[in-house]
Amino acid sequence: MTARNRIVLSSDHAGIQLRRAIGAHIAEHGSVVVDIGPTTPESTHYPKHGEAAARLVASGDCRFGIILCGTGQGIMMAANKVRGIRCGVCVDTFSARMIRQHNNANMLSIGARVVGEGLALDIVDAFLTTQFEGGRHATRVDMIGALER
Ligand code: RB5
Repeated sequence: MTARNRIVLSSDHAGIQLRRAIGAHIAEHGSVVVDIGPTTPESTHYPKHGEAAARLVASGDCRFGIILCGTGQGIMMAANKVRGIRCGVCVDTFSARMIRQHNNANMLSIGARVVGEGLALDIVDAFLTTQFEGGRHATRVDMIGALER
């Protein structure tokens, strides 16, 4: 199995329900969902879930990662600490397209207490179906990578 259509999903307790809806949605559209939990509703710490998903993307095991917490912010901050990860929080479809097109984002973060399910699924679709444009944007993305070295 190549990483090409493998999408890792993770969240903290705040994102479990929406994460499941996203997983069902993208599985229906042909992606292989790697849902790494959590599965029970107890309060948990978002950094470890962001990190776990990010490691699967950074290693090449998964092509993209989608992560959720209450706001999407904390788990995004954690994921972005893993080398090679470019993760943005999106509350709209325009941003979801642009973080792929211009920033070559490999992870998407969503605030489960911020956006409803319908919008979240549209955001996910926009993210997963948009290609990186390259060109001048590749130079800038390389500059982000240089900050890690
Ligand atoms: C948990 O209550 C909440 O802090 C977390 O889900 C997230 O919003 C943090 O950024």
